[in-house]
Amino acid sequence: MTQSRRVLVIGSGGREHAIAWKLVRDGAEVLVAPGNAGTAAIAENVPLTGDDIPALVALAQSRAIDLTVVGPEAPLVAGIVDVFTAAGLRIFGPTAKAAQLEGSKLFCKQILHRGDVPTAMFEEFRSIARAREYLLAREDVPVVVKADGLAAGKGVFVCKDRSAAVAALDTLSSDPQFATATTGILIEERLDGIEVSVMAITDGRTIITLPPLQDHKAAYDGDEGPNTGGMGAYCPTPFVGAELLTEIESRILVPTVHALRRAKVPFQGVLYAGLMLTAQGPKVLEFNARFGDPECQSLLVRLESSLLELFDAATDRRLDSVEPPVWCAGASAAVVMAAEGYPGPIEKGRPIRGLLAAAGVAGVQVFHAATRSVAGAVVSDGGRVLAVTALGDSLAKAKLQAYAGVREIRWQGAWCRKDISDKALAFEWATAADAFDPDGTPDSIATDAGGDTMLGVGQ
Ligand code: AMP
Ligand code: GLY
Repeated sequence: MTQSRRVLVIGSGGREHAIAWKLVRDGAEVLVAPGNAGTAAIAENVPLTGDDIPALVALAQSRAIDLTVVGPEAPLVAGIVDVFTAAGLRIFGPTAKAAQLEGSKLFCKQILHRGDVPTAMFEEFRSIARAREYLLAREDVPVVVKADGLAAGKGVFVCKDRSAAVAALDTLSSDPQFATATTGILIEERLDGIEVSVMAITDGRTIITLPPLQDHKAAYDGDEGPNTGGMGAYCPTPFVGAELLTEIESRILVPTVHALRRAKVPFQGVLYAGLMLTAQGPKVLEFNARFGDPECQSLLVRLESSLLELFDAATDRRLDSVEPPVWCAGASAAVVMAAEGYPGPIEKGRPIRGLLAAAGVAGVQVFHAATRSVAGAVVSDGGRVLAVTALGDSLAKAKLQAYAGVREIRWQGAWCRKDISDKALAFEWATAADAFDPDGTPDSIATDAGGDTMLGVGQ
């Protein structure tokens, strides 16, 4: 058992609630800045946001925090890790330079190129006019138009033809929210296949690959409607069996970590690969520099061993000395309950009922994503409000329990996707027992060509 330690978690979403929940289970005393009504019930909320880095440094010093964990990407890209480290404070996450892997799609492509990591072919433009000329001069094929910088998930346009791509460029040039993100433009080959996510914890040298997941980015059932931050996730996904996970580790994750180190931007933190499983094998769509949300929730309910130990070891650059994490058998599903109107404009402040009843459903953890307490009541405070997460001894059971939890919860206008994990269930039914390994036996400790220890953790 870990001795009681004081850990600060930065962020206010379901991901941060799940991280705080797990750290408390690992024996830590946890502060969350700023947190939500869910984190207030298990930890101490401090009313500071991730962009107030000087105040967070002062908090870490005055409260003798011995490890800070950063949930969202914005403070990472803004350099919170650099500032904490310069102040002699321990912090888990990549530096501003390394977080450019998520913050700049062009930087990401350069690293992928350096590491010879499979990804979509692309062309890079420094002006929208040049990108338009290129589109008009070449064959009319499906492409993806991307703004280089962070654009809250809105700077990517998957286009079926040239006219849709030109329209995407028009949107990028006319909307002021893209002004800084469009100093670079990428036009990418559109990849077809199944999208999955594989995350790893790394200290810049050694990686621990986490069980593969699938997110549900589209707002509505059947992957219809606009893209969101994620409407649900499940873990593990049967689309990535043990063999494919090993391939993803050796062809994508390890070469990326090494390419970053060779570029003198060692990456410490969570490396999140958004992948397309194409007919030619897995290819990188994007990298994030942090846990996904709600992927993190469905991942952490399955983690039986200590998360704090993994964070500590990555921060101290001794991941090669830790035991591989232990995952509970079976599967998990996280269903996001959203406010009316999400991902468009929403109203906040709707009282939420049934949280206790939902928490009483077997296997269910209700992680708060955007809530706050008002006079003892929990009210909604954003678009994605809760992530109702359940464990089951099979994916079908995890899904059943998660939706049993959802049914207990009510507020005016609440809604969710009804089909979280259905693609996997259909695949499981279609392929039956021998096509994949549902127990996902943790596999080997392998050493790659660079001499670094690489822990393959299976599913
Ligand atoms: P990104 O932020 O780069 O991951 O893009 C957001 C979403 O756009 C991804 O989750 C994919 O669904 C889609 N996408 C991005 N790049 C491509 C691509 N080259 N081909 C097909 N879909 C893509
Ligand atoms: N759920 C997608 C993300 O966190 O980026």
